[in-house]
Amino acid sequence: MQRRTFLKSAATLAAAPALTPLFDAAAQTGSATPPAARRFPEGFIWGTATAAYQVEGAVHEGGRGPSIWDTFSHTPSKTYQGQTGDVADDFYHRYPEDIQLMQRLGTKGFRFSISWTRIFPEGIGKPNQQGIDFYKRLVDALRAAGIEPFCTLFHWDLPQALQDKGGWANRATSQAFADYAHTTVSQLSDRITHWMTINEFDSFIDDGYGRGNSAPGLRLPRKEWMQTRHNAVLAHGLAVQAIRAAAKRPVQVGLAEDVHGAMPAIEDEAHIRAAHTALREENAQYLTVIFEGRYTDLYLKNLGADAPQFTPEDLKIISSPIDFLGINCYTTTEAIPADNAAGYAMIPRPASYPHMASDWLFVNPQALYWTPKLVASLWGVKKLYITENGCSSADVLRPDGRILDSDRIMYLRNYLGQLQRGISEGVPVHGYFLWSLLDNFEWSSAYSLRFGITYVDYATQKRIPKLSFDYYRDVIARNAVL
Ligand code: FCB
Repeated sequence: MQRRTFLKSAATLAAAPALTPLFDAAAQTGSATPPAARRFPEGFIWGTATAAYQVEGAVHEGGRGPSIWDTFSHTPSKTYQGQTGDVADDFYHRYPEDIQLMQRLGTKGFRFSISWTRIFPEGIGKPNQQGIDFYKRLVDALRAAGIEPFCTLFHWDLPQALQDKGGWANRATSQAFADYAHTTVSQLSDRITHWMTINEFDSFIDDGYGRGNSAPGLRLPRKEWMQTRHNAVLAHGLAVQAIRAAAKRPVQVGLAEDVHGAMPAIEDEAHIRAAHTALREENAQYLTVIFEGRYTDLYLKNLGADAPQFTPEDLKIISSPIDFLGINCYTTTEAIPADNAAGYAMIPRPASYPHMASDWLFVNPQALYWTPKLVASLWGVKKLYITENGCSSADVLRPDGRILDSDRIMYLRNYLGQLQRGISEGVPVHGYFLWSLLDNFEWSSAYSLRFGITYVDYATQKRIPKLSFDYYRDVIARNAVL
């Protein structure tokens, strides 16, 4: 898509007349007290989020084994310009510097994922002490900086050795995941309290095994594809149990999920009811079975002979109680009431719907109000975190060395405003993790899309905080959105 840029040249900006101050200096530096209506609760955890393959690099170091993302990104034409995560942000070596960035921001939480193949290079077998030690060092450094680690066990980088035996299409992978979770938690639960099993089921199952546009790039027949969905939620449940069994002290267990289609097009009773119903059905394959211990009748009926095979015992494991839900929220679709079996319909996107640099990232800030609110009310969830929210922007490094990403600030300000609206009404969101601290390897789009509030010059690995970094730092300092 052709995009117009409104950024004037540096010379034009330099020549612009100085702005007349509108407020006193105290208000501008944030020392003034923000209006109560815009404040977040005391103790709210502000953080940033990343994932192993997207930032770590060092793919051949520390005894790490290959994952499906190494294979996929090295397969011609699978990623933008054939780019890979071999180096990415070199976070494996540069994390001390990146923790300093977090300190400059004032964040109190950091979400990261563990690379399964650093712990078990072949997916199962003998653990790799060097991998465990890397994460111990990382977590110790975070803690020393006063930053609480929030750890995801699986953010899509499945060991290639397990993919060679069918990956998530093979039920044995679910048990292998629980074993990996057990080992990792027994080694790290003295340092990490918050654990997430899996990140976003549909992105690695539906894209990876159904639509083929993500690793491992398969297009399985529908029946097998539906079974991989089941194996993945089973893996989550087995891992919840393994984490609790392995933990050396009390831990908090959850998962991070991109919740589907849950926003009323209009805020009236009929539309809100439609969104409520839609939320349950649109998430039937993942969150609904996790919270309710059953697939919805409509889901099974629609799949007919392709429905997954499962036992009552599976359903019990899948719905093992969790302590919190992490919501990854970038956008959502709007529901309207409909006279059909489901009682709702999702509105197809009008071509003019605004989006950010990613073509899927439609801008609807109310998603951050409605998604947590409806999830809390539908399943009675008592503790939520926003484990991802943020956007890609067409960032430009200007000749003066700055990145003036005013569109990202617009996005964040509007979404955070809606989050605050929900919290002020009692929606139990306890923290927010901005995606992402750094520009990074954005899966198939690789380095063509920038999601960071810190610009990364990949040639030199230099980190340059963007204007949105300063915006987020102010939000954190005031504990309010303005
Ligand atoms: C989410 C992923 C994350 C990142 C953002 C932009 O779906 O969990 O890794 O790619 O999208």
